[in-house]
Amino acid sequence: MNTNSVINSKIIDGKKKSLAIREWIKVEILKLKESYNFIPGLAVIIVGDDPASHIYVKNKEKQSIEVGMNSWKYVLPANSSEKQIIYQINKLNNDSNVDGILVQLPLPKISNALERNVINAISPEKDVDGLSIVNSGKLVYGDNGLFPATPSGCIILLKHLPINLSGKKALVIGRSNLVGKPIANMLLKENCTVTVAHSKTKNLIEECKEADIIIAAIGIPNFIKGEWIKKDSIIIDVGINRIDNIDNTQKVIVGDVDYEGAINVCSAITPVPGGVGPMTIACLLLNTLKGSCIRRNIEPPVYNF
Ligand code: GUN
Repeated sequence: MNTNSVINSKIIDGKKKSLAIREWIKVEILKLKESYNFIPGLAVIIVGDDPASHIYVKNKEKQSIEVGMNSWKYVLPANSSEKQIIYQINKLNNDSNVDGILVQLPLPKISNALERNVINAISPEKDVDGLSIVNSGKLVYGDNGLFPATPSGCIILLKHLPINLSGKKALVIGRSNLVGKPIANMLLKENCTVTVAHSKTKNLIEECKEADIIIAAIGIPNFIKGEWIKKDSIIIDVGINRIDNIDNTQKVIVGDVDYEGAINVCSAITPVPGGVGPMTIACLLLNTLKGSCIRRNIEPPVYNF
């Protein structure tokens, strides 16, 4: 457990932490280049023209370049078939300069591609999203592997709080492959007692009232209310929801938790934006760095979280 520099009053500063991680990655990449003469590289495939997905991918590209990584982007037409997408993945699997491959999700509805087939076509050692069956299985087993970036970011932030996670009651709200399921397993690894709630859960409010830690990953703006939360609990808000502001004059980004209500009750909370969001790309880059070393039989540098 670390004394934290990322928590100011109750607010957990993911922006600051992600910057520190990216600065560390930058230094490690320089060392790798000097010692082993290679630069880790991340390839991103985006299918279609969804504007939000293109913004996410642009940020991934920008931050890869900023830390000194190689970065490649492949834009495929929205109506690409599963076969065409997997053809591109196979080219990257076979390219020894490429360390990480990410297919931005969701895939467009117009494509016939099944996400699970596309994701599982990525070589597990290049699956920096950690979404393949191989890496998901390793996470469940407690083995070493590449694990999803957003939940990894949540765990890093939790580990910076002045608390012992062991034995804490953690409530994960949401059961997606991207966040809910992997973070439940990560929390188990930290010896939390984990409950996974979802749309069919009865008595969600009662579950919230009993939780020491709430991970909100449901995608419904301001859903979790301050009155539902146990005093001094820790709130990790994974939601990124674009809604109209109060007088309908502009769009604002809010989380899944009613921040104003929750902040008076909890002991720590991630804001939206500036909490979990910035951690995702930092953890994706950490995975790419790690994968690049393992693939070359080099001991990966370890960041002291
Ligand atoms: N879409 C939203 N978040 C993610 C992510 O973490 N990985 C991928 N591949 N697509 C996403």
